[in-house]
Amino acid sequence: MTTSFDNAAQVVTPPEPNLPYLRANRAGELHLDPGGITVGEDGRIAMLEPTSNANIHVDATGCALLPGLVDCHTHLPFAGWRAQEYDMKVTGVPYEQIAKAGGGIASSARALRETPDDGVLSQARGLAGEMLEHGTTTFECKSGYGLSREGELRSLKLATELGRSVEQPTTRTALLAHAIPTGYTADAWMDEVEAMIPEAAEYATALDIFVESIAFGLEHLDRMGELADKNHLLLRAHVEQFSTMRSVPVALRHNARSLDHLSAIHPDDITPLGASTTAAVLLPGAEFMGVEATAPARALIDAGAIVVLATDANPGTSPIFSLPLIVGLAVRKYGLSAREALLAVTLNAAYVLDLSSELGSIEPGKRADLVLLDAPAEHVAYRLGHNPVAAAFVAGEPIHVRPDAAWRITRR
Ligand code: NIG
Ligand code: FE
Repeated sequence: MTTSFDNAAQVVTPPEPNLPYLRANRAGELHLDPGGITVGEDGRIAMLEPTSNANIHVDATGCALLPGLVDCHTHLPFAGWRAQEYDMKVTGVPYEQIAKAGGGIASSARALRETPDDGVLSQARGLAGEMLEHGTTTFECKSGYGLSREGELRSLKLATELGRSVEQPTTRTALLAHAIPTGYTADAWMDEVEAMIPEAAEYATALDIFVESIAFGLEHLDRMGELADKNHLLLRAHVEQFSTMRSVPVALRHNARSLDHLSAIHPDDITPLGASTTAAVLLPGAEFMGVEATAPARALIDAGAIVVLATDANPGTSPIFSLPLIVGLAVRKYGLSAREALLAVTLNAAYVLDLSSELGSIEPGKRADLVLLDAPAEHVAYRLGHNPVAAAFVAGEPIHVRPDAAWRITRR
């Protein structure tokens, strides 16, 4: 089966082929030109022009065609929600009181423990469907609410199971150091982490750690870096979210694939991060919902950083699953251009998941994971709260079509 995308108002393409990532200070080089795309029998992009005799034709008149959106930082799968905690938070109840009332990561850990596999998976499948409707054609899953050896491994197995039963390709990250489990010191828990990594590595491609005054320290990040190296896994880390810990130099020594949050990054760490191949994953949803500090996105861009945006979808700090909404928040809060924001949820996000040779940009040879917008690309940020996704394709197959866009797709 071949597919032709005809007459798009904009096709978003990279300035050169085979880029593993594009530093955000080059985002202006992305092309947003009118055109079409032909997808071959193999589900890969065959050429950047339409063809007249394809099996499927997609009328893209007035639309933008983007690479499928990649959400490289989510906490799926998890169980239940924490709406009551949010209600307390916004009305000014101090964190200690929320924690005492059983809130925070511990509350999601309890919910996960008490929910059978079927319940966890059905909630996560529903959310994956919601993400697909918002254009996410690949997403990352994380463990981190297990808080015990069995719990973390169960979480990774559930994530693997989720990946088998949703439309989108997924990846798995083992967030084995998220909170210090009751009865452990941070050091003792890191011993457990070390012991479980060989089994976790059967499911995950990356390790993750939460470095914060209330979680793990720089010495634990250093140790996680060594473990990642030894086990041939990527290192990722939640850093500088609430406090300035100076995690960046430690993580750069271990050549981390990404550093996520960075809302409280030390000014001296911006230049080295910008010069490195470690991506800066900014999470404006968590910053907005938690009234956190704002990451210095423009300074990171000026320093040459590989800037990425993601939802951080989780039941606590960011119960947001829409990348178009994240793009809207990022453009307004950080002052990103439309091109900078689009790059940050496509090619650069694919790089974080080590998938950019396969997807993340529209170029011949890549898998035809595509999103058809109902408007030009600039509308994604501008019409905040509107879902601009008319259809989403994985390997050229339409896996989501909004009813009002169904007329655009004809099979011959
Ligand atoms: O990315 N920072 C730590 N972890 C998550 C929040 C987890 C939770 O509150 O459940 C985050 O924001
Ligand atoms: Fe997170």
